[in-house]
Amino acid sequence: MTAPDPTLTYVQYLGLEQLLTAQRPRSGEHDETLFIIMHQVYELWFKQILHELGRLQACLESGDTPHVQRTAHRTLAIFRIMIAQLDVLETMTPTQFSSFRDWLAASSGFESAQFREIEAVFGRRDRRVAERYPEGSAERARISGAMSRRSLFDSFVWYLREAGYAIPAAVAHRDVRQPLEPSAGLQEILRKVYQDDAAAVVICELLVDLDEDIQEWRYRHVKMVERTIGGKRGTAGSSGAAYLRSTTGKPAFPDLWTVRTYL
Ligand code: HEM
Repeated sequence: MTAPDPTLTYVQYLGLEQLLTAQRPRSGEHDETLFIIMHQVYELWFKQILHELGRLQACLESGDTPHVQRTAHRTLAIFRIMIAQLDVLETMTPTQFSSFRDWLAASSGFESAQFREIEAVFGRRDRRVAERYPEGSAERARISGAMSRRSLFDSFVWYLREAGYAIPAAVAHRDVRQPLEPSAGLQEILRKVYQDDAAAVVICELLVDLDEDIQEWRYRHVKMVERTIGGKRGTAGSSGAAYLRSTTGKPAFPDLWTVRTYL
């Protein structure tokens, strides 16, 4: 860490020269600027979310309940902003989007490596996702790194174990590179948590909020896609809205949803 620089300016501190010259519309159409800025804003939020999720996992694993709660609240506030921001892009009509869509060529949000990393932290385990990025690339390393480490839910299980709960061995010592499977034994523990552990219940509910919010983002994104391109294929070559619909309604933390039936 170097000492504070008394001559530092706002422009330098924020890297505004790079940031404000990173909007390079290709078509000359008015609406393309909004499309670019919206995606850039999302990528910045994705970066911040990854930053917060890293802290959230560390706090869970060290049993730091107050900071778990604060960090989860902040992450949720960002998710809610990301959902609300879709309203801005929905001011663009299908014809306005069509006016520059060809200029996107095959590029698509589908390629967002930060989004894939967020999915991995939420527990997605699918080697093919990382393999879409070039061998040796930073993107591939980050996604496969996240898929090889404990997911957010694994960190929560760790928290419960450190708090003294007798986590079934198959869950506590599972291979975290594999997808998370629902566990009746863990649901039994979660029932006990909900009966008499107020602090852990708050964390359970915050995790459900996060799970709900990422699902809501997917739902709102697909609705925006339907109203903007109808039944057209995506620029990445997928079936478009039909593909995106197939990614919705899949909870990341199934045990936290299933246990509610028994409470
Ligand atoms: C008019 C605006 C938008 C349209 C029409 C649109 C369309 C699509 C389509 C059709 C796909 C499926 C993949 C493909 O074949 O291209 C997709 C995927 C995706 N888009 Fe968008 N999108 C829009 C805005 C955004 C914005 C603002 C973001 C924010 C970063 C975003 C992020 C993503 C992500 C992360 C995926 C991958 C989803 C998955 O595979 O589960 N999109 N988009």
